[in-house]
Amino acid sequence: MRTSIPNAILLSLLSTSAVLSSPAPIITKGTSIPLTRRSVHKRSAAEWEEWAVRHRAYVTHKYGGALDTKSKRASGMNLLTNQGADSDYYGSIAIGTPAVSYDVILDTGSSDLWLASSTCTTCATISGDTSTASSPNSIPLFDPASSSSFKNLTTAFSIQYASGQASGTLGQDTVQMAGFQVTSQTFGVCDQANDVLSSPLSGLMGMAWESLASSKATPFWQTLAASGEWDSGVMGFYLTRFGNDTHASNVEPGGQFTMGYLNDSLYTGDIDYQNVPSDQVAYWTLPLSSVIVQGKSLSLPTSGQSMYAAIDTGTTLIGGPSDLVQSFYSNIDGSQAGTGSWEGYWFYPCSTQVSSSLSFGGQSWSISPADFEHTAIDSSGTTCVGAFFEVTTSGTTPGWIVGDAFLKNVYTSFRYSPASVGFAQLSSTAISQDGKEGSAPSATIGSAAAVVSSTGGVSKSSGAVPALPLGFSAQAVAMVGALLGGVLLA
Ligand SMILES: *[C@@H]1O[C@H](CO)[C@@H](O)[C@H](O)[C@H]1NC(C)=O
Ligand SMILES: *[C@@H]1O[C@H](CO)[C@@H](O)[C@H](O)[C@H]1NC(C)=O
Ligand SMILES: *[C@@H]1O[C@H](CO)[C@@H](O)[C@H](O)[C@H]1NC(C)=O
Repeated sequence: MRTSIPNAILLSLLSTSAVLSSPAPIITKGTSIPLTRRSVHKRSAAEWEEWAVRHRAYVTHKYGGALDTKSKRASGMNLLTNQGADSDYYGSIAIGTPAVSYDVILDTGSSDLWLASSTCTTCATISGDTSTASSPNSIPLFDPASSSSFKNLTTAFSIQYASGQASGTLGQDTVQMAGFQVTSQTFGVCDQANDVLSSPLSGLMGMAWESLASSKATPFWQTLAASGEWDSGVMGFYLTRFGNDTHASNVEPGGQFTMGYLNDSLYTGDIDYQNVPSDQVAYWTLPLSSVIVQGKSLSLPTSGQSMYAAIDTGTTLIGGPSDLVQSFYSNIDGSQAGTGSWEGYWFYPCSTQVSSSLSFGGQSWSISPADFEHTAIDSSGTTCVGAFFEVTTSGTTPGWIVGDAFLKNVYTSFRYSPASVGFAQLSSTAISQDGKEGSAPSATIGSAAAVVSSTGGVSKSSGAVPALPLGFSAQAVAMVGALLGGVLLA
């Protein structure tokens, strides 16, 4: 189950292109996505600040005369699917009129939404994926002609990644997810996506900040967060672990994604928030303040992009600057650099339990030895590949990419204002879902609790959009974009 194909090393290890195939999803129309409303809790100063902005917008709007959906602040949940034993985590969205559902990677390491379109002839040609190679249309494709609300923006769209690219044109349509709806959401309608998708994935939903979007469109989540529709300006992720379950199927329950609230039955204690530095609001970037492996601390830089980490649900493992990853493995006896297809990766004896932890200025968070062990490279299970690999990023991209191998160990909150990422200990309720085999959730189309226009005044009116540095070069970092969770590979 955990076999990676060395020839497809980037595809297999960087999550957004799983090499394994799986059956097409069952599309259930009219099933509602669980929606919740939360009881009022005691607000922190930051929450009061958010409240003040929303409150003023609400009152202004109300007494301006137009009746609105904004009074119905809400929150929503999307059950995730874990594909390829922790390679990918995806959820479902629905697009168009009538709405059709699609499975997409939820990627906090990029900011564009794109789907393979019905004119795509190369969208399912991943090498080794026989099911999709023989029947390429096993990936549900977006058909613009069958949506009465689709608008062709006729602007070219392209995202480049290490093994190929996805390209097409930009369009606008109604997009729904977890009970929220954004009308006129701009996204890429791709007629080319070589070596990118495997069934049942139709595309990718970028969940980082607008400044990173090659489409220049405001990401779905950010439109909602800025509109004040959410009960609370946060998104929560809990990702399940099946990597060490030898009986895992290709698709298993993947955990939960929430918008507008955090599911407090999935974590214990406080969320330890660290702010995204104001000049880094593009990825969900935090300063990496400590890396400990087998009890030894790495000496980390305190300047330059190597001191930063992007918190990225769309990357399977944990990438870092070569010199630092090398010194990381120097603390593991018997480790050696991978060669050939495994260049950039490191081997170590599978018999060694590797304990490591990361901290971002606050608490230290452990990575379980099970998550450190990515896969064995020999049938005897003697030599293993570790979760930390060397990656060369460029420009303003953070030097570290902290992906699912870390995120499976914590509950994660992505907070809109102040831009910050928080982690908390998983609860026993969460942990008990790890390795608990079951059917993966089906793609659903729910009713929308809140509707926001992406082009209307709503998103602009909250005044809560964090300032971005002038001249921030989003284009350079977005070019390689989504498929590597936004990481530029040298
Ligand atoms: C949008 O318009 C462009 C330019 O006319 C065309 O090439 C493209 O195929 C259209 N895309 C869709 C999805 O209709
Ligand atoms: C998988 O790893 C987790 C975390 O270390 C551990 O709690 C769990 O028991 C392991 N499961 C199996 C089947 O070995
Ligand atoms: C929180 O997670 C638990 C455990 O998965 C689930 O049963 C419950 O429905 C979730 N609650 C909310 C409000 O999302």
